[in-house]
Amino acid sequence: MIVDDEVTIRQLLHQKLTQQGYHCEEVSCSNEALQKLKTYSADLVMLDIKMPGKSGKDLLPELKAGYPGMAVIMATAVAEAHLAIQCMRLGADDYITKPFSLDEVVMSVEKVLEKRLLELKIREYQEQLQQKVETQTLEIRKLFLGSIESLVFALEAKDKYTAGHSRRTNEIAMAIGLEVKLPEDELENLRWGSLLHDVGKIAVDQFVQNKPGKLTPAEYEHIMIHAHIGAGIVKPVVNEKVVEIVEHHHDHYDGKGLHQVIAGEDIPLGARILAIADAYDAMTSDRPYRPAMSTEEACKEIERCSGTQFDPVAAAALLRTPIAHSVSEKDRVRL
Ligand SMILES: [Fe+2]
Repeated sequence: MIVDDEVTIRQLLHQKLTQQGYHCEEVSCSNEALQKLKTYSADLVMLDIKMPGKSGKDLLPELKAGYPGMAVIMATAVAEAHLAIQCMRLGADDYITKPFSLDEVVMSVEKVLEKRLLELKIREYQEQLQQKVETQTLEIRKLFLGSIESLVFALEAKDKYTAGHSRRTNEIAMAIGLEVKLPEDELENLRWGSLLHDVGKIAVDQFVQNKPGKLTPAEYEHIMIHAHIGAGIVKPVVNEKVVEIVEHHHDHYDGKGLHQVIAGEDIPLGARILAIADAYDAMTSDRPYRPAMSTEEACKEIERCSGTQFDPVAAAALLRTPIAHSVSEKDRVRL
């Protein structure tokens, strides 16, 4: 695109460059150039520095910011070569001086377009490389998460009381998450948080975990370290939000849980939801120290602890899900 207020110069350049096989468009001022560029994509702009209205020098930064892939050659009178040098500092790719030697113009155009093509290729290559790195990083992260997930399932599988707990807790947590209309990214965090929440139990004494009677305060304290340890295990492979969900999944809404540092809405919503899902599944499963509760009993317990141990909004959401109204295996046996 040739931008020059002098029609004879535009025509001269147009004719020469057309002969060389280039397609040219002419405009007579900076504003017209900006207007044209809205619908016309130019590979190269030949920009006159001195024009009535906005000068070429003033237009140059706008062109470089708005169209980073477009090359710009400045045109100026010999006596004003210092202006052309200033323009090179502002990002112009080359400059030509009037009166033109048309062969020099052609050489400059060829050189600048070649450089532009090379730059575009490098950029494209960098983008492809970036894409590849991102895909592979995602793949590696998925593999890591998969291994931790397998570890959790393996941990649970050796104990008949906890087998399948994380998978079921995950289903309940996701149902609550959907019910409270969590955004997509938070649902994804909750998905991983709920699947991995008990990985820290790897550090818990099996004897304490399977103890049939009531736990002593020291034993209870020992079991509860799993939330903090679990957060540390998953930290290298998940985002900060997932780590927080694992870390706070035993926090009580009213702040009265063991060694709790935050309470209420300060506890991440994902952790508040997970606390309910975790407790609900634990209540409806057999434990070494008690048989499973019925769905109805578990719902009553969640309702009773709403506002104290549990977030009332998330608790009410669970009670609205089909899970709370389903009949468990245990219920069926009782019926
Ligand atoms: Fe837990």
